[in-house]
Amino acid sequence: MVLKDSSFIKACYGKNEDRIPVWIMRQAGRYLPEYREVRKEVSFMELCKTPELIAKVVKQPIDRFSLDAAILFSDILTMLEPMGAEISFPEGGPKIAHPIATPEDVDRLHPCDVNKLPYVFDGIRHIKKVLPNTPLIGFAGSPFTLACYLIEGQGSKNFDKAKAFLHRYPDAARKLITLLADSVSAYLSEQVKAGVDAVQLFDSWGGILSREDYRTYSAEPATRIFNSLKNTNVPRIFFVNNLSPYIDIVRDVPCEVVGVDYRMDLQKAMAELPDKAVQGNLDPSVLFGSPAHVREATQSLLKTLSNHDRLIFNLGHGIQPKTPIESVAAMIDAVKQFR
Ligand code: CP3
Repeated sequence: MVLKDSSFIKACYGKNEDRIPVWIMRQAGRYLPEYREVRKEVSFMELCKTPELIAKVVKQPIDRFSLDAAILFSDILTMLEPMGAEISFPEGGPKIAHPIATPEDVDRLHPCDVNKLPYVFDGIRHIKKVLPNTPLIGFAGSPFTLACYLIEGQGSKNFDKAKAFLHRYPDAARKLITLLADSVSAYLSEQVKAGVDAVQLFDSWGGILSREDYRTYSAEPATRIFNSLKNTNVPRIFFVNNLSPYIDIVRDVPCEVVGVDYRMDLQKAMAELPDKAVQGNLDPSVLFGSPAHVREATQSLLKTLSNHDRLIFNLGHGIQPKTPIESVAAMIDAVKQFR
């Protein structure tokens, strides 16, 4: 099958009349026993740096559930290493040594040299060999999301230090965001050259900003990145965690698909984004219910929508590590049966 005729790619352009495509954010990961088996042998970083293993774990959820798209296995923080950040993934979440605290720290970062990430692009080529008929999504973190980790040095509830940095050092903040935006553009463009069929920008933390700061630090850099990818002719997906307060701003961001988090009414998002496809947005915690409950919740979400031609079904954020497999299967089956 030609991939542009797949339900996933057609839905990205709002033209899918077949069954509703479905994939899951974080679909390759710890909720899968076969992923945990691989992780017994290698660390997360080693896994991200071994193209054969990348392809192996990307294929696992596709083999198990026949999902309609695969996603590259890596992390949003991977591209920060060639920029000069020291990243690690201990139990409990990522860490960055020597977090950014001053404008001088920003000056020490380099633009991302994509030649230092050969394992990512080799990984993509390997995935294409083992999954030639499944659309493959490449990805990167949004500049502000990456800045959050660079400034805090680790995960945080509200990333207060990152927000303070924007206002304490506005010139350095703009410099950092521009450096990250240009690096993300180069990185995603290289992923497309290696063979990905779509790209997703994860704006996981832009949703903590005021509307004014969202415009400056999330929507503007996303626009810069997506404009740079316009001629690649792959669909561009913008996942915005906490979309609702900014939806009118996101409407003007040049992308084909907006990923909607679980907090927002999906029909409302579709109505307010008439020229875009939407992706989402079942609450990942629904999957902790029984298969019957999950089936019911999935159908009832789908029934609220007036248009299914521009829908890619997904969770409204990443799947959680302890999620029961039977519930995942029930959700996917309910989507596949719907039309
Ligand atoms: O199937 C996939 O989506 C796999 C690829 C992928 C990973 N991380 C692998 C991963 C993707 C797309 C990401 C994105 C990512 N990473 C985001 C944005 C998405 C979101 O959730 O909003 C963020 C914020 C990160 C940073 C990150 N990496 C965190 C916060 C953590 C710790 C939390 C956790 O889930 O453990 C990671 C580690 C990580 N990234 C794991 C995986 C599979 C777990 C590592 C392991 O195997 O132990």
